[in-house]
Amino acid sequence: MRRRHTTTRLLAIAALALPLTLSAAPAVATPSTPARQLTDVIPVPVDTRPDARAAFRLSPLTVIRTAPGSSAAWQVGRQLADTLRPATGYPLPVLPVPSTPLPEIALVLGEADHRVGQEGYQLDVTRRGVTIRATTPAGLFAGTQTLRQLLPADIEAPTRQRTTWTIPGGRIIDYPRFAYRGAMLDLARHFHTVDEITAYVDLISQYKINYLHLHLTDDQGWRIQIDSWPRLTTVGGGPGTGVDGVGPGYLTKADYQAVVAYAAARHVTIVPEIDMPGHTNAAQSTYPELNCDGVAPPPRTDIAVGYSSLCINDELTYRFVEDVIRELAAITPGPYLHIGGDEAHATTDEDYRTFMNRVLPLVSKYGKRASGWNEIAQADPPADAVAQFWGTGTTNADLVDAVTRGTKVIMSPANKSYLDMKYDATTRLGLRWAGLIEVSDAYGWDPATRVTGVGESAVLGVEAPLWSETLRSLDDIEYMAFPRLPAIAELGWSTTTSHDWESFRTRLGEQAPRWRLQQVNFYPSPQVPWI
Ligand code: ACM
Repeated sequence: MRRRHTTTRLLAIAALALPLTLSAAPAVATPSTPARQLTDVIPVPVDTRPDARAAFRLSPLTVIRTAPGSSAAWQVGRQLADTLRPATGYPLPVLPVPSTPLPEIALVLGEADHRVGQEGYQLDVTRRGVTIRATTPAGLFAGTQTLRQLLPADIEAPTRQRTTWTIPGGRIIDYPRFAYRGAMLDLARHFHTVDEITAYVDLISQYKINYLHLHLTDDQGWRIQIDSWPRLTTVGGGPGTGVDGVGPGYLTKADYQAVVAYAAARHVTIVPEIDMPGHTNAAQSTYPELNCDGVAPPPRTDIAVGYSSLCINDELTYRFVEDVIRELAAITPGPYLHIGGDEAHATTDEDYRTFMNRVLPLVSKYGKRASGWNEIAQADPPADAVAQFWGTGTTNADLVDAVTRGTKVIMSPANKSYLDMKYDATTRLGLRWAGLIEVSDAYGWDPATRVTGVGESAVLGVEAPLWSETLRSLDDIEYMAFPRLPAIAELGWSTTTSHDWESFRTRLGEQAPRWRLQQVNFYPSPQVPWI
């Protein structure tokens, strides 16, 4: 959690006892950036009504007031205080009370415009303060992320800044286009630590991403503890595993649960993936009995795909798969469990269907909703299953058939949303099999018209996968994700009528000072007017 700036947590009582002289301390009026507007936010809000006479300034007396009786709302308030205290130097006590006489940022559950639904919020800025109203704590959290971007960029500084903390006046009513707005990290090709994953959660949740998919197993490594098959991690995730043999490591169950809890506190749900029946060499090289001939293949650290397959007609395979699904479901509070299913080139079509039609019901048996790469549409997924489209084309007959039977789709077209593709021919990191993806390419598509026959009502949302063959560090992750991740986030949240490249690239450019202060290692695309 390297990027989280620590701050002294002041007790509410201490703040209320602040000497009055503090309120007389003048704010120094040297704004470092131009005045913000209600639309200067990524993802761009649905409905904004500016009121030029109603701007609000944070001051040493400002309090954060949260819905009485809601510990979740109080938690959102505390996180907001943690975000705003270092740069302002203000105490910003968090008070779960019905009203105060002080200037306030109020987080209210209920009373919002009905359009906000379950995840949206209404944000009102008047001279007296800011009120964020939402149906759920997730909506309050989304509203606080907007508020953060409405403040001057210096708000992200780790130390006290002498800035006028003005928030533009007016009303925002905002809610997501799609329920699922995801990012994915690949822990298999190179392991990422708990600190790296939680740092990524901090970054993506600023842009209202609400799912983080963890690709936990692949040919090169197994990264999640499974008690009934203990060598999966100690051998399959042990020394020498990962691409080029330099990405070892695994999450213990306690680590995984810590990630789940950290993400949940930022209204991000973890989606774990066990890739099968292909992409399984790490398991099969660890346990010989998982191979049809009983012989363990050597571990692999290259980046080839499509050569491994579990043994489809062996009952032991299903005992293994059920053990893994049962143990993983037990530590996963979120609704989805991803079973991979991509690039099973070493499995015949008939065996693939046999395998999936046995494994899909196992996910339901342990109380989870199955998701998988779009190949699962070749089997008979249950109506509540979710297929993740990763193709580079615009047609897919199996997927359209599954959609007709009720399957919902997460859109991750590899030539638009894959964050591991190079930006241009000179990008040091990344691959290029799906093409080069500049920022305008990542932004320039519509999830509801990408695949013929998969329209708005069939699309659950979008996801930006980041595969780790070439990545080593959090700096590498950030360089590939920023600035394309915010583009995918806007496609997932904002309306089609607000989709506008000129507006987006201007707003993206305004994010740069925030990223510099957060020490985000972003790609300075020549397409963007960085400030
Ligand atoms: C994938 O990129 N093989 C899902």
